[in-house]
Amino acid sequence: MKNKILVTGGAGYIGTHTCIALHQAGYDIVIYDNLSNSSREAINRVSQLIDVSIDFIEGDIRDAKRLREVFEAHQFFGVIHFAGLKAVGESVAKPLMYYNNNVSGTINLLEVMAEYKVKKFVFSSSATVYGDPEVLPIDENSPRSCTNPYGQSKLTVEHILENLAVSDNDWNLITLRYFNPVGAHPSGQIGEDPNDIPNNLMPYISQVAVGKLAKLNIFGNDYPTVDGTGVRDFIHVTDLAAGHVAALNYLEDQTSAVGFLPINLGTGKGSSVLELVTAFTKVSGQKIPYQFTDRRAGDIASCYASADKAQSLLGWQAKLSIADMCEDTWRWQSMNPNGYKA
Ligand code: NAD
Ligand code: WQD
Repeated sequence: MKNKILVTGGAGYIGTHTCIALHQAGYDIVIYDNLSNSSREAINRVSQLIDVSIDFIEGDIRDAKRLREVFEAHQFFGVIHFAGLKAVGESVAKPLMYYNNNVSGTINLLEVMAEYKVKKFVFSSSATVYGDPEVLPIDENSPRSCTNPYGQSKLTVEHILENLAVSDNDWNLITLRYFNPVGAHPSGQIGEDPNDIPNNLMPYISQVAVGKLAKLNIFGNDYPTVDGTGVRDFIHVTDLAAGHVAALNYLEDQTSAVGFLPINLGTGKGSSVLELVTAFTKVSGQKIPYQFTDRRAGDIASCYASADKAQSLLGWQAKLSIADMCEDTWRWQSMNPNGYKA
């Protein structure tokens, strides 16, 4: 029998790509999502791409009753937990909403998992837990600190998972720290669909390229980097999706529980904002007008991963290039200028 996985937040950007990869790797999936930042259309498109009707439950991770119904109805091998709010600026304005959703929601989910003795958990953490790194590349033992409520909510969940692993040896709590996920499915059918004006660089660039936004503001050109603009470890979302499959495969192979296990998912290479703009211009053939503005509050100069642990433990490594990331983003954006909205 195939192992069944509960995917919270599976209708979202990273969740949809991961569901495709999970299906292709032979897992059965059940998506649990409240659609607060996603749409049924995204799930329809995943169904079409894998040619299987998706088991989707509309529900909130803070709703224990609903979660229990789901755990009663299905026998899960484990849970991949994407559900959460992710906008840094919004988290500063609405900290209670972020802690409630991301921290209380995760505690609720873990409690229900414990009740049903499902103790394999893959958590979406973020490179943001490393704050402003002292040493590059960043490995998993680097000091952690956060300044905004979004990052703090991720770090708090990490601490909770560490405590949980100490309290009970049966838990397997793989914490994947994503660097900067970008790109889209090569079909052009699914991709990132921000509700509003994008906060993140890649969707902003692609909306300028497609003519929805006039000009990119580049936040600072006086960082101590190759060209003065910020440097990040951009990783293709399908590589990231494969990282989740590798994490589950790893758990299938273990004979004893792994406890709390943090793993970076990045390429190990940094690219600057200007380098990304140049690459996007080349693959899309579109002009990307830009201007330099002040640094954005809270931004750091450079951030890129040591991806050695993912390779040695999971046998996973990112394969796709910056050109692939731009090409797939552009295909998604130009085929769906309004995202999933008709
Ligand atoms: P997303 O917003 O596209 O997906 C998150 C999904 O969770 C959405 O479909 C949303 O409707 C759902 N959701 C939110 N709150 C929920 C709740 N209370 N109950 C049920 N469903 C809920 O975001 P994404 O980019 O796919 O990110 C997935 C996860 O990865 C998030 O936890 C995010 O914090 C984390 N992460 C994202 C990035 C990034 O840059 N995209 C980087 C690092 C970590
Ligand atoms: C990348 C670079 C900006 C927009 C954020 C979260 C982090 C994680 C990933 C969830 C920076 C510059 C951006 C723009 C710009 N998310 N930029 N103009 O800040 O590295 O990380 O997303 O966990 O937690 O903080 O990503 O894409 O916003 O910025 O110049 O319009 O692009 O200054 O150097 P960031 P980003």
